[in-house]
Amino acid sequence: MYKAATVARYTHDPAGFKVAELPRPALSSATQVEITVHAAALNPIDFKRAEGMLSIALPEPFPLKLGYDVAGVVSEVGSEVSRFSVGDRVYGRVHAEHAGTIAEYVVAEESALAPIPASVGFEAAAAVPLAGLTAKQALEAGGLQEGQTLFVSGGMGGVGMFALALAKHHFGAKEIITTVSSKKRDGALAMGATRVVDYAQEDYTHVLADTADVALDTVGDSAFYKVIKPNGSAVSVAMLPDGDALDHFRQEAVPLSFMGSVKLAVAKSVVNCAGWFLTRGFRAKNVKYSFVVLRCDGEDLEKTFNPLLESGKLVPLISNSYEFTDEGLCSAFTESRAGHATGKIIIKVK
Ligand SMILES: NC(=O)c1ccc[n+]([C@@H]2O[C@H](COP(=O)([O-])OP(=O)(O)OC[C@H]3O[C@@H](n4cnc5c(N)ncnc54)[C@H](OP(=O)(O)O)[C@@H]3O)[C@@H](O)[C@H]2O)c1
Repeated sequence: MYKAATVARYTHDPAGFKVAELPRPALSSATQVEITVHAAALNPIDFKRAEGMLSIALPEPFPLKLGYDVAGVVSEVGSEVSRFSVGDRVYGRVHAEHAGTIAEYVVAEESALAPIPASVGFEAAAAVPLAGLTAKQALEAGGLQEGQTLFVSGGMGGVGMFALALAKHHFGAKEIITTVSSKKRDGALAMGATRVVDYAQEDYTHVLADTADVALDTVGDSAFYKVIKPNGSAVSVAMLPDGDALDHFRQEAVPLSFMGSVKLAVAKSVVNCAGWFLTRGFRAKNVKYSFVVLRCDGEDLEKTFNPLLESGKLVPLISNSYEFTDEGLCSAFTESRAGHATGKIIIKVK
């Protein structure tokens, strides 16, 4: 048996997040490793799944195990694992079928993992994978080039802070503009922003109109097209997902019943129609728009983030670290659902 963070049913109540005793997971293929978890990070998808927001595409088994981001030590390896050995410190965003990283142990494909640089602690490492890879893949999808101007909404959230740092140190953007509330201004500048707009004080769509070559939305505001130059490029990770995004969740999930498949087909038509309506402003400016869904990729994690972490160019901000107890989970999910974290929320498992 082992301890894992769970909900027993769909719930909006942070007190419903509990540490439960469950059968310990076992390796099911030769390419997997078991990790003894030291730290795990929360992401909004954890409370969204717990609330049932993804249930059309992703029917959940209960008790539902929570957490995608992990940092820990390899405690068992499958016979075909080539990149890691028992005792190695690793971090990664596990595939959906292995979700449940807020736990004493987790099984993961080695392809989802990267080695933790020697100078980096478990909590900092756990902060990176899901939000960091999302930022990287979104900026790639937006086609951000050296010397360009980037707009990122919510630059002090999980995805936002990695987007600022990557835009500066990896993509070589010239101007990096973001929206944060006033107390987060200095943090955003330190993370890589060159210009900060307080979204609570000013209408950012007005003061930044037509300034960005590429824009990344992390808060779900469809008006962000207004800051993009005509013929520019827009990416969102937080607006309404499109049908392809629902399919992406689908592929990683358990089989659907016949009625479940019908409901999913209807949902895809609905979100595609709603998305067409929401993005009419983008089309009017000939702005290319895409919704990005993260792909797990341990090698990209290593190639992109390890040099930045080792050099100290990227120091992930930790909003708060909580204990692996019922009280700790309740506080952590309360903070995550409030949507005003500065950087990442961590559970200290070991
Ligand atoms: N598509 C994907 O694959 C994918 C992957 C990762 C995340 N996501 C989604 O992306 C969104 C962001 O994720 P996250 O991990 O970055 O969330 P997060 O860390 O919870 O974001 C919190 C941040 O958002 C800021 N914020 C809230 N409202 C804002 C507004 N109107 N304007 C500017 N900033 C605002 C808050 O700053 P203040 O305190 O200043 O308000 C806070 O710093 C979530 O909806 C998540 O589900 C999608």
